[in-house]
Amino acid sequence: MKQAAGRRAWLAALFILAGPVFGQQPGALAERIKGCAACHGADGNSQMSGVPSIAGQPKVFLETQLVLTREGMRSTAVMQNAVRGMSDKEITAIAIHYAALPVRGASGKTDAALDKRGREIAGKFRCGTCHLKNYRGQQQIPGLAGQREEYLVFTMIAFRDNPPPGVDTQMSAALYGISDAEIRAMAHFLSRLH
Ligand code: HEC
Ligand code: HEC
Repeated sequence: MKQAAGRRAWLAALFILAGPVFGQQPGALAERIKGCAACHGADGNSQMSGVPSIAGQPKVFLETQLVLTREGMRSTAVMQNAVRGMSDKEITAIAIHYAALPVRGASGKTDAALDKRGREIAGKFRCGTCHLKNYRGQQQIPGLAGQREEYLVFTMIAFRDNPPPGVDTQMSAALYGISDAEIRAMAHFLSRLH
């Protein structure tokens, strides 16, 4: 039942996005992207704790998150301010821009044992059935490879403990009963893939 409601929410979001893309002014788009860069990094690979990287994310995921944020259904006040007044065309243009940028991945030291454990846990819980085997994501499902480690931990704990209202419930189901230690191991492994 919950799954069907989630699917309806996605379909509604996708319907909003279905308009054709043209007439975007390059100057205005560049200004918008400069605003995003202040937090998400010049090339979409975030250098800021708590701010996710958005480079290389699937276009549909970016569009969906931005629409949900604009409609007040998702995200924090800082993000809601950043997308206020954005048109669907602008959202699509920004999504195309970031989807094409390369993922750089974590630069910190790798703990080989934790990395191996994280790979095994993600395999055991079949995270790749949705996020793909290389964890690059697809359609409305985000890429996890190369995402900031602390953001992965934060967002997984949030999905497990406080599922976001009104959106897809698949992730909360996928993380049901997974421990903090297992989440930390998966985040270590995933943040180092790219
Ligand atoms: C003031 C800092 C700030 C600015 C400016 C900002 N963001 Fe964000 N963004 C965040 C933070 C913090 C999060 C994570 C928390 C949340 O979702 O609100 C986030 C989350 C996101 C997400 C969800 C990513 C995920 O993996 O779940 C997307 C997509 C995104 N931002 C795109 C953008 C775009 C595009 C712009 C420019 C139009 C932008 N942001 C401007 C801080 C910012
Ligand atoms: C049934 C499909 C499915 C499975 C299985 C699944 N996920 Fe997800 N995951 C999703 C969807 C859909 C989203 C986006 C949900 C949303 O934004 O509401 C998501 C979002 C996420 C996010 C947030 C990323 C971001 O940038 O915001 C993380 C982290 C994540 N998943 C990790 C995992 C891990 C680790 C596993 C295995 C334990 C897993 N997922 C299994 C479908 C799935």
